[in-house]
Amino acid sequence: MELMEWCRELPKIELHAHLNGSVRDSTLLELAKVLGEKGVIVFADVAHVIMKNGRSLPECFMLFDLFHILTTDHQTVTRITKEVIEDFAAENVVYLELRTTPKKNEAKGMTKRSYMEAVIDGIKAVDSVDVAFVTSDTSKLMTCSGSIPVNGTGSPIKRKKIYVRLLLSIDRRETTAAAMETVNLAMDLKDFGVVGIDLSGNPVIGEWETFLPALKHAKELGLPITLHCAEVPNKKEIQAMLDIHPQRIGHACFLEDEEWRKAKFLKIPVEICLTSNIRTERLSSLHNHHFADLYKAKHPLSLCTDDSGLFSTTLSNEYYLAASTFGLNKSEIFVLARSAIQYAFVDDEVKEELTKVFDDAEKRLIS
Ligand code: IMP
Ligand code: ZN
Repeated sequence: MELMEWCRELPKIELHAHLNGSVRDSTLLELAKVLGEKGVIVFADVAHVIMKNGRSLPECFMLFDLFHILTTDHQTVTRITKEVIEDFAAENVVYLELRTTPKKNEAKGMTKRSYMEAVIDGIKAVDSVDVAFVTSDTSKLMTCSGSIPVNGTGSPIKRKKIYVRLLLSIDRRETTAAAMETVNLAMDLKDFGVVGIDLSGNPVIGEWETFLPALKHAKELGLPITLHCAEVPNKKEIQAMLDIHPQRIGHACFLEDEEWRKAKFLKIPVEICLTSNIRTERLSSLHNHHFADLYKAKHPLSLCTDDSGLFSTTLSNEYYLAASTFGLNKSEIFVLARSAIQYAFVDDEVKEELTKVFDDAEKRLIS
């Protein structure tokens, strides 16, 4: 089997995916057209960026701003969530930790809570695959599925299954009070599959001190946190981030030796986003990427997409890139994919289920 096809077949764990960055281009185009017709945006200004494959850094941030306009409507949030989950499942992602920034828009009657309810409705609306998530009724794993398809002889066709959990993102533009509200909301929605907190947004905006009280609060409440860390050089902030000992960090492009020593000593798992780092010009070439050093050092790692829609990638493609750039063979790639189970913010019961999925796949994929 060709390597790319093999990477698609591989079961995968996605730990760093932003909901609105993962939206399909076709959906984005359709939504932008409607907004253009309503006069909310100038469609011609964004159309060429949406349809483009390799986007520049300013074009990426232009699209993020567009996403914020698009997601002011509950139905759209629900639709995007449903489609994003279906797209990840189609790639054989078996566990998806989807992160999103709860948004408030008084004019549209949207609160952070109602935004999240729309996301949860999107999870429930998935019908092309089985979704395992958490419900408030039983606090147990429940599987929701649409109508059961049958084959020509009337026997049920085995459907794909994906576990979905949510992380609530604090945007670096937010105030301490807004960040605190997000943490409290995450706590309230624990029974709906919310498993942790993320800090993201434009890395050159915002002060660490603004978010720290909310992140500390999350820690006190027992909510795991993951931080977008060192997307730009910022020694003081990077050190402060490592000092609070987050459960994971994302990107980690600009750590210096001293900080790497600390991160390695603390064994903080790193969410590696290869395509994203190149597209946003954090690194000039994959050959200089810190993946190589971390992999060699056996540091905990997981390959992730970040924004699969925005960066025109898939998790299968990220595994393919790692294999082809760093010379990993199929067995090594398989071990890497399976190792990500350990770093998921999910209970042991689900981890055991996921391990079984990998055990089954191993027989098929590694000869
Ligand atoms: P959302 O939180 O579902 O709206 O997903 C899009 C948001 O994720 C963006 O507006 C950013 O705040 C954040 N985001 C996505 N990609 C990146 C990145 O590479 N760095 C920092 N923040 C990001
Ligand atoms: Zn990210």
